[in-house]
Amino acid sequence: MNREQPLVLGIETSCDETGIGIVRGTTLLANVISSSMEEHARYGGVVPEVAARAHLEALVPALTQALAESGVTLDELDAVAVTSGPGLSGALMVGVGAAKALALSIDKPIYAVNHLVGHVGADALDAQPIAYPTIALLVSGGHTSLLLVRDLVSDVELLGETIDDAAGEAFDKVARLLGLPYPGGPEIDRVAVGGDPKAIRFPRGLSHQKDMAQHRYDFSFSGLKTAVARWVEQTRDSGVDLPMADVAASFREAVVDILMTKAVAACRDLGIPRLLLGGGVVANARLRELAAERCAAADIELRIPPLSLCTDNGAMIAALGAQLIMAGHAPSTLEFGADSTLPATVIQA
Ligand code: KG4
Ligand code: ZN
Repeated sequence: MNREQPLVLGIETSCDETGIGIVRGTTLLANVISSSMEEHARYGGVVPEVAARAHLEALVPALTQALAESGVTLDELDAVAVTSGPGLSGALMVGVGAAKALALSIDKPIYAVNHLVGHVGADALDAQPIAYPTIALLVSGGHTSLLLVRDLVSDVELLGETIDDAAGEAFDKVARLLGLPYPGGPEIDRVAVGGDPKAIRFPRGLSHQKDMAQHRYDFSFSGLKTAVARWVEQTRDSGVDLPMADVAASFREAVVDILMTKAVAACRDLGIPRLLLGGGVVANARLRELAAERCAAADIELRIPPLSLCTDNGAMIAALGAQLIMAGHAPSTLEFGADSTLPATVIQA
């Protein structure tokens, strides 16, 4: 096996994206993503069984396409990497099964890796190596996690996470109550244009003194969602036209404000002047803007991978696999299985 520049194929199926990525060391060769998002749209959120079935259908075509795009053949691969958790059980099982079958059939080692750490691993594909330690804020439809990464392959600590809805889920739910389609994030961004983010002061979850003691780096978005629902209902009841742009802008401001407040606090508290962002919510225009502002003000170096590497994808899983190999880690044994609640501290299963 080439340990300096390993050629790794990564498989990601933890949620609604079937991702196949191929990397050589820290170089991206292919990143094919097939999303079942449209199939979930009419339900207003990801339906696990629908996602699992879509993975089954999308896997082989995505694999074929990734190999074609990269000009790599299966027997050239040094290893296969796969997300074994956390995520939706049924969806994970499809990827894990496929990865084991593939690794066995081509007689290559397999690396079962953590999805959350994979999001950080995406940034290893940047020309500039990741500097450690770094704080990482991962925000998507499935997670809102604040990590302390001392070393990508050996030392990741979960500082905090959402105690209820994920940030992306909050966007999706609020969009729904405003009558906007799924996924809600881009819709809220669109409707918020021209709106006043200070028009309505929506609550910032777990930001009060009493919550900060126990939940300093945790997030909560269900109270915010309820507050928006109540405000919308009262406004409608009073017969006034709903100021959609103001509601969207004020809601979005509440989400990104608390995300950045807690992320910057973690950087400050721990004396780590580096912040990495990942996850689908990073597409949010206001989040990117506020992150740049707050990090500049606090002298924090901000890193955001390209959006195609922020949303769920196989390249980040391949990248993490390659990092493990380059650091001399042994492959996983075939005993591992899908683990929907795999903790962030377990980088490799
Ligand atoms: O990472 P991702 O593609 O999949 C997972 O959830 O794992 O993230 C999708 C989530 C959805 O909840 C979607 O509403 C949110 O990311 N999202 C956004 C934006 N674009 C996508 N949230 C806020 N603003 C956006 N522009
Ligand atoms: Zn993710």
